[in-house]
Amino acid sequence: MKPFRRILTGKKILLGVCGGIAAYKIPGLLRRLIKEGAGVRVILTEGAEAFITPLTFEALCREKVFCQCDFLNPPPGCIPHTELGAFAEAILVAPATASFLASLASGDARSLLVATILASRAPVLLFPAMNTKMWEHPAVKENVKKIASWGYKVFTPEEGALACGEWGPGRLPEEEIILAHLEKTLALQDFSNCKVLITAGPTREPLDAVRFLSNRSSGRMGVALAEAAWKRGAEVILVHGPLSSSPLPLIRRIPVETAAQMAEAVLSLLPKVDILLMAAAVADYRPQDTWSGKLKKTSPSLTISLERTPDILKEVSSRRKPGQVIVGFAAEEEEFLPQEARRKLKEKGLDLIVANPIDRPETGFESATNEVFLFFADGRKIHLPLAPKEVIAWQILDAIKELQK
Ligand code: C5P
Repeated sequence: MKPFRRILTGKKILLGVCGGIAAYKIPGLLRRLIKEGAGVRVILTEGAEAFITPLTFEALCREKVFCQCDFLNPPPGCIPHTELGAFAEAILVAPATASFLASLASGDARSLLVATILASRAPVLLFPAMNTKMWEHPAVKENVKKIASWGYKVFTPEEGALACGEWGPGRLPEEEIILAHLEKTLALQDFSNCKVLITAGPTREPLDAVRFLSNRSSGRMGVALAEAAWKRGAEVILVHGPLSSSPLPLIRRIPVETAAQMAEAVLSLLPKVDILLMAAAVADYRPQDTWSGKLKKTSPSLTISLERTPDILKEVSSRRKPGQVIVGFAAEEEEFLPQEARRKLKEKGLDLIVANPIDRPETGFESATNEVFLFFADGRKIHLPLAPKEVIAWQILDAIKELQK
């Protein structure tokens, strides 16, 4: 298994900042990029300098920050636009203002930022942020259309309360979203043209109007798989029970509550998917009878009869099409892990089962980390040592990629 490397680690990112109120958020983004291990150089437009000083950025990235004055009066021996253009493995502009979009659309290289973009062949990601009426103005729309036609990625601003007091599209997306788009741009798109269905979280089996049976699953492993597959170019659908960690809003989600609802969603989507990852902790039993109101505390004891829920994976394996990859998950006590995992692999007709021990605090339910064993239908076994669930998700996808070859 190849060693895991975070997508942004060691990547050279050019961060362009324009003069909009959202400029005050960009030092936060810069910090995140540095924390991810990226090498970042910053260009501030003249407008950006009116909102925030170069010193703020310089203190964070420990590199000279380039301003408009450096363009015509560069440091000795430096040609800023060509050097920065050649440096960048990706160029990210946030916030991108209407005037910046206009000068880029017309190829007007009077600003250092536009000149640098013209002098580079790195992928360009633009995050416009402005007043809604400006964003919807035909002049801005035309410029965006033109810029997008060159292959630059222009992301629609988010809707919400704007600094001007209005409500509408115009907000800069959250850091998390900007980073996710950047990661997707730089990641190997080895799952493009691939539809991946992932289940995550627990199910809830109702007992009465206010009570249910459930389990401790947080849904983190499934969410990590969905985000990793999305970043690697897959078309992802996440069918999930109640989650304690919210997935990137960029991922298509189908929330469900019960095992029966999850079964219905999975089975209806199954014919269209290439890969199914059943990471959900589906309840094995549900109350046989449910009360429509609230069950009253009248008798000293209460016996609840339980019945089996549908085994989704078993049903899937009888309906699978050739070429589909079906992956199950198993949370087991360490002592029984190998035999239980192999039994389920066979019984459920899987290509791969991902098994993790549940009797350690740092693995399995509710933890941020996991340690898993992959058991393949062809008899192979791989151990993925303790790591954050994001890393484990990436490695599971690597193993699936191998299976598809
Ligand atoms: O049999 P067990 O529940 O331990 O198997 C775990 C695997 O089976 C997981 O991938 C889980 O999502 C799936 N499962 C299922 N339907 C159920 C219960 C579990 O598909 N009713």
